[in-house]
Amino acid sequence: MAIFRTKSVEQSIADADEGEHRLQRTLSALDLTVFGIGVIVGTGIFTLTGIAAKNYAGPSVALSFVVAAVVCGLAALCYAEFASTLPVAGSAYTFAYATIGEFPAWIIGWDLMLEMALGAAVVAVGWSGYVVSVLESLGVTVPVLSVGGWSFNYLAVLVVLLLTWLLIAGVKMSARFNLVMVTVKVAVILLVVFAGLFFVSGANYTPFVPPARATEGASGLAAPLVQVLFGVTPTVFGVAGIFTAAAVVFFAYIGFDVVATAAEETRRPHRDLPIGIVASLAVCTILYVAVSLVVVGMRPYARLTESAPLADAFKEVGQPWLAGVISVGGISGLTTVILILMLGQSRVFFAMSRDGLLPRGLAVVHHRFRTPYKISMIIGGVTAILAGFIPLSTLAEMVNIGTLFAFVVVSVGVVVLRRTRPDLPRSFRAPLVPWLPAASVLACVYLMLHLAVETWLRFIVWMLLGVVVYYLYSTRHSRVGFRPARRR
Ligand code: ALA
Repeated sequence: MAIFRTKSVEQSIADADEGEHRLQRTLSALDLTVFGIGVIVGTGIFTLTGIAAKNYAGPSVALSFVVAAVVCGLAALCYAEFASTLPVAGSAYTFAYATIGEFPAWIIGWDLMLEMALGAAVVAVGWSGYVVSVLESLGVTVPVLSVGGWSFNYLAVLVVLLLTWLLIAGVKMSARFNLVMVTVKVAVILLVVFAGLFFVSGANYTPFVPPARATEGASGLAAPLVQVLFGVTPTVFGVAGIFTAAAVVFFAYIGFDVVATAAEETRRPHRDLPIGIVASLAVCTILYVAVSLVVVGMRPYARLTESAPLADAFKEVGQPWLAGVISVGGISGLTTVILILMLGQSRVFFAMSRDGLLPRGLAVVHHRFRTPYKISMIIGGVTAILAGFIPLSTLAEMVNIGTLFAFVVVSVGVVVLRRTRPDLPRSFRAPLVPWLPAASVLACVYLMLHLAVETWLRFIVWMLLGVVVYYLYSTRHSRVGFRPARRR
């Protein structure tokens, strides 16, 4: 059936080498790890730590970070195997095209827009919040603009457009810019850990796992799917609270998979991609566990704030200047997250249009900058509009569901490709296949079940829209569809 036609691994690799569609290979394993840290450390650690500790897990939020890291680690090993086998732009989209078929690949590409373009818009809105708070603490009032009754977040639009320009100007320059910002961000996180140690009080760690408490639970569309499906009464705190908080802080890890989208710009992708993916996830896990342990040690968890828990903890122990430094670190941290999410999105779009599933004319690289400028402009424009006008706080959950869905497909894809193409060279092999990918699928589905019913509904509507576009456009323009049938 046409919708399950696959694009061979060899064809994917050959397409990546066609003249005007070819990207420049400049990135090393270290660049990729920095890229990974740049996109991973952001809103999650700077804000969600407080929400998760205060509302769900107490001091044991550090364990929630470990749980979320394990879920991501399972998926990361699957991503690493794929990326080492098929080092072509497009990440989960390309992997699915090579294994399960064109339609599932399209669906994944469509789904990744939730993770990356929507994710970038969400983080841009958070970025503008940090900037406003820093400016206000300096005594500068930031005017609010509204257009036709909609409030217009011009700061978020500005940062998105500025970063779009950087992306067009060249990935190497973006990598350099990223390195500076990541250095600042990691320095600030280490500052939190080491300066915070002086204010830690042992009393704040007991009880480490606060006793479970039943809640009314959210009602209607805001209720988590698991509650609606199985009538589970949600509890907060206790052991269950650790897992609920893990579903929240999952957001903090989103991004390690984006490393795989830079495959075609990597000098030695077979070796460097697995290193970049696994190393960035490992570094972030260590940073997150350390930060969360220190922060819950500094303040009783019930008194952490939800908008800026790290900075506020320092304010409350009488160190406002450290709080200021942390806010500035937050701003640079969020900047790199937006930058790399947009970079990843443009590479997925690039791969999709090169395959003809989106207009092929878009997949050309700039004659001088060697970047896919047309696509970058479109993505920058759409992200700016989303960030400028739409109140995105509730849509942030959409980013989680979109990402978890991609993880599921990639985990399944690893098993499929081992069966259909056992002959392919795999410089990195995930251990314990098929058990590890199966555990990865179960873990992702478990976290997805903790997302709200309305998130599921929005997700389904978005995906149905994708199906319509596929039938109206993509299936008729697919390059694989127009090639003579492959023989193996
Ligand atoms: N992991 C990224 C963040 O926490 C998306 O902002």
